[in-house]
Amino acid sequence: MLSKSLELENVKEEIVSAKLPLHESATNLVFGKGNPEARIMFIGEAAGRNEDLQGMPFVGVAGKNLDKLLEQVRLTINDIYVANILKYRPPENRNPNEEEISAHAPYLLKQIRIIKPRVICTLGNYSTKYFLAECNVAGMKNQPGITQVHGKEKIIELPGMEGIKIKLIPLFHPAAIIYNRKLTELWEEDMEVVKKVIEQKELM
Ligand code: URA
Repeated sequence: MLSKSLELENVKEEIVSAKLPLHESATNLVFGKGNPEARIMFIGEAAGRNEDLQGMPFVGVAGKNLDKLLEQVRLTINDIYVANILKYRPPENRNPNEEEISAHAPYLLKQIRIIKPRVICTLGNYSTKYFLAECNVAGMKNQPGITQVHGKEKIIELPGMEGIKIKLIPLFHPAAIIYNRKLTELWEEDMEVVKKVIEQKELM
């Protein structure tokens, strides 16, 4: 059997061969980082400028903020795996459209099927709505926004992983909370939920 790292490498190669929308304007594929054996995944939206240049998710300002927030719950990059819905940066960081999400998200699902996390923390509206819509991109627009659902745990099942229960914890996007005191407070409350979940022994 292939190791998870090798399986992930294969998905990376598949993405390169698929020539997904946005690949032409991007500098690098931004696939994921962290521990493939992790029990907890954090899922953002799409790379920004620094991520595009380095080919690594959450390495810019939002990434620094995420690192700080993870520290609060005593998590390091070795405890988690981080990826995005989109695998390439949208030009000028514009919002992703339905066609792009539909083309990219199946590769995120492949990553999840390999890593098999017990907990998924979504960061911001896009990844949250994607999972709340049961991975049906057209259904995302009917989902509540992150301000309504942040910190509320939900058990989900993903296509191709039927029978496996995953705990979804929607969180504000770290870029959104950087200069917002109110959101920082709410994030800290939500992190208490994350902390409680990861302290359950069977998860880690
Ligand atoms: N924001 C995201 O959603 N993902 C990144 O990788 C960087 C910023």
